[in-house]
Amino acid sequence: MSRFDVTALRRLDQAHLLHPFTDHRAMHQGGTHVIRSAKGSTVIDETGRELIDGLAGLWCVNVGYGRDEIANAVAEQMRAVAFYPSFFNTTTEPAIRLSAKLAEHAPPNLQHTLFSNSGSEANETALKLIRAYWKLRGKREKTKVLSRTFAYHGVSIATTSLTGLATCTEPFDLPLPGFLYVPGPYSYGSGKSPEEYGAWCLAETERTIEREGAGTIAAIFVEPVQGAGGVIVPPAGYLSALRELCRRNEILFVADEVITGFGRLGAWFASVLWNLEPDLMTTAKGITSGYLPLGATMVSREIATIFESSGYLAHGFTYTGHPTTCAAALANLDIIEREGLVERVRDDVGPRFQAALHELADHPLVAEVRGFGLIGALELRAPRSGPNAGAAPNTLGGAVHGLAREEGAIVRGIRDLVALAPPLVVTHDELDRLFAALTRALDRL
Ligand SMILES: Cc1ncc(COP(=O)(O)O)c(C=O)c1O
Repeated sequence: MSRFDVTALRRLDQAHLLHPFTDHRAMHQGGTHVIRSAKGSTVIDETGRELIDGLAGLWCVNVGYGRDEIANAVAEQMRAVAFYPSFFNTTTEPAIRLSAKLAEHAPPNLQHTLFSNSGSEANETALKLIRAYWKLRGKREKTKVLSRTFAYHGVSIATTSLTGLATCTEPFDLPLPGFLYVPGPYSYGSGKSPEEYGAWCLAETERTIEREGAGTIAAIFVEPVQGAGGVIVPPAGYLSALRELCRRNEILFVADEVITGFGRLGAWFASVLWNLEPDLMTTAKGITSGYLPLGATMVSREIATIFESSGYLAHGFTYTGHPTTCAAALANLDIIEREGLVERVRDDVGPRFQAALHELADHPLVAEVRGFGLIGALELRAPRSGPNAGAAPNTLGGAVHGLAREEGAIVRGIRDLVALAPPLVVTHDELDRLFAALTRALDRL
């Protein structure tokens, strides 16, 4: 490898690379961060400093960095057959084996998978299957799609339309017609308890269904815990009531488990944990722990049967069921099983993480603590004095992100909150260091 020259790399970066979800001017003023290497739950940045990765990359590196098992499986698969499509009556062994492995862990009614390359594509695929499904069932007027405020479902035109965050939709003049938002259960600042607020959200959702007409609504997309919208944990009873409301109105329930899948909540899927019985479930991220890009759309037996008996299914990407990414996923899921990482989150690091998070409730700048398993968030209030006294709204999360990095940890800043979701292999010592760094950052705010 060539000598690591951060000055030259930053110059090339500024000249040529556009970054996702980035203010480029601010980034180039501060200097782009360049991650040089990573192992377990830590990364080494451009200065050679070790940082605890409190966000598992982007909520995805569940088994931690630097796993030889995945690298070896990928190399072996590339040598055997690096790529062959799953189009036209053909596929490869890893795609078949991975679909069977997913069926083992998914809710029992989800036994069929259509692969793609990302969470956005998994949701886009779900949207297309849903449209075709209602058409095949003779209910052509069922075309509208519900999602919730603060939802994040991806960045394609249609999945941006599902995303209930103005920062994502407004620059692109979205949502498209036919995409409707109902309130997500974000009770913070509402003056209501989470349960009261959840009940209000359900009542509003029911009113929307009545107003639009259930016969025009195809589906609802639901992240069981809303991630990028601010780690919004559903209040007790809310998700099961929402599920029931959809069942009564013949609205397909799509669980977007792109973040919550593969152990993050101390279960293989939130849908299993909370018995959601979704009609479709989408996953990505933790399916390969981010080692290679892969999305998966799982569908109920009923939906699968309709497609299996309706002739030609004209959907799929060149890389749908890519053998090398599927081999990476199989090696990744094997690690999760062998090392009992789901149980580890449920019984060990999850409770320890939640205890440390909730200890910060006493910090003068922390207004609310939320979390479940190995995901959590702190809502912040502006300090009375110091550099961030009277900070503009929605800037505290970014400020803490910067300070935490200086203190040796990566956390995600969202509006006035910080979000955390470390790798499932995070050690007790690393959790202690993560929370110590975060506390120092809060003290400096
Ligand atoms: C819940 C959820 N759905 C979908 C997506 C989109 O996934 P991708 O970025 O792989 O397209 C994300 C990404 O963060 C997500 O968190």
